[in-house]
Amino acid sequence: MSTEHPHIFYASELDRSAAWRAALATEFDSFELSTADSLVDPQTVDVALLWRIPEEGLGRFTRLRAVLSLGAGVNQIGLERIPPHVPLAKLADVTLTAQMVEYAKATVYRYHRRLHIFERHSARAHWQFELPMSASKTRIAVLGLGSIGLAVAEALRDEGFTVGAWSRHERQLDGMRTHTHASGLETLLGESDIVINLLPLTAQTRRLFDRRLFGHFSAGSKLINMGRGAHIVEADLLEALAGGRLEAATLDVFDVEPLPPAHPFWNHPAILVTPHAAGVSSPMTAIAHVAENIRRALAGKPLLNQVDIQRGY
Ligand SMILES: NC(=O)c1ccc[n+]([C@@H]2O[C@H](COP(=O)([O-])OP(=O)(O)OC[C@H]3O[C@@H](n4cnc5c(N)ncnc54)[C@H](OP(=O)(O)O)[C@@H]3O)[C@@H](O)[C@H]2O)c1
Repeated sequence: MSTEHPHIFYASELDRSAAWRAALATEFDSFELSTADSLVDPQTVDVALLWRIPEEGLGRFTRLRAVLSLGAGVNQIGLERIPPHVPLAKLADVTLTAQMVEYAKATVYRYHRRLHIFERHSARAHWQFELPMSASKTRIAVLGLGSIGLAVAEALRDEGFTVGAWSRHERQLDGMRTHTHASGLETLLGESDIVINLLPLTAQTRRLFDRRLFGHFSAGSKLINMGRGAHIVEADLLEALAGGRLEAATLDVFDVEPLPPAHPFWNHPAILVTPHAAGVSSPMTAIAHVAENIRRALAGKPLLNQVDIQRGY
């Protein structure tokens, strides 16, 4: 427990403030939590805890020392509306990361052990044996080595898969090949059986998965999109599946969520749709990170998981 008395402004369409109030109470003896309805004195707000910047903006919070995103991604928050002197941090939640790792393992094993084929055969009462392969024979590309991408890549490597990864800067990681730049991505895609997208959504990565990029996938690849729907050109994905460049796709995130009932991804024989369920953060599991960042903001220290606004992640 601490002696600070932070004033936190909370706004989210997704969660209710009561859960965050309860979580904050486990970390601070004394604090003020305001919402749009209860806010009396915006000049005393220290920290904004937000899913998205409210329409009125942040200008009235003249003492604001930090914006803390309620999402692990910040593409939704409205980066261009963050005052230039105010630092922004993404949410990090060990439970969410562990769930993302589980989802990656589950969906990778579904392909590796050919369960997606057996599901189709099972629906037709068709008995067809497929020989299991060793994990090292399945080559996996993990795109993005942020806190989630790195955890996923390392977990799959530890399962015995052959893992390659792609990031903006050079990285040296035990037991996996790493790549940078567009040429590195093309090489990696051409040598992979399963591609997992864990990039942040930025100006550079928006619609990265288009017809041109799918052309670099090795024939019969599988795509697992755990990042954001806007990483993909949906029509080009359908075309890559129809042409056999892709054998199958597992999609957790979409341009429009919930995915509209008439969308061609539903009932597609090669697509597994999951409802943005790969990983979820909750106030009680994320509070340690949020509280640390509130303390850092009050002390004028750099935040954990601080976002570079220019870079977009
Ligand atoms: N489906 C769900 O339930 C769910 C839940 C939580 C999060 N997510 C999504 O999961 C994704 C990963 O989250 P995260 O927190 O791990 O992301 P992050 O930390 O923002 O990812 C940064 C990584 O991506 C790399 N990168 C960024 N731009 C790049 C570019 N143009 N070219 C190559 N590499 C680039 C960075 O390279 P450097 O290392 O060189 O900087 C870094 O390795 C995000 O899209 C997030 O929105 C989904």
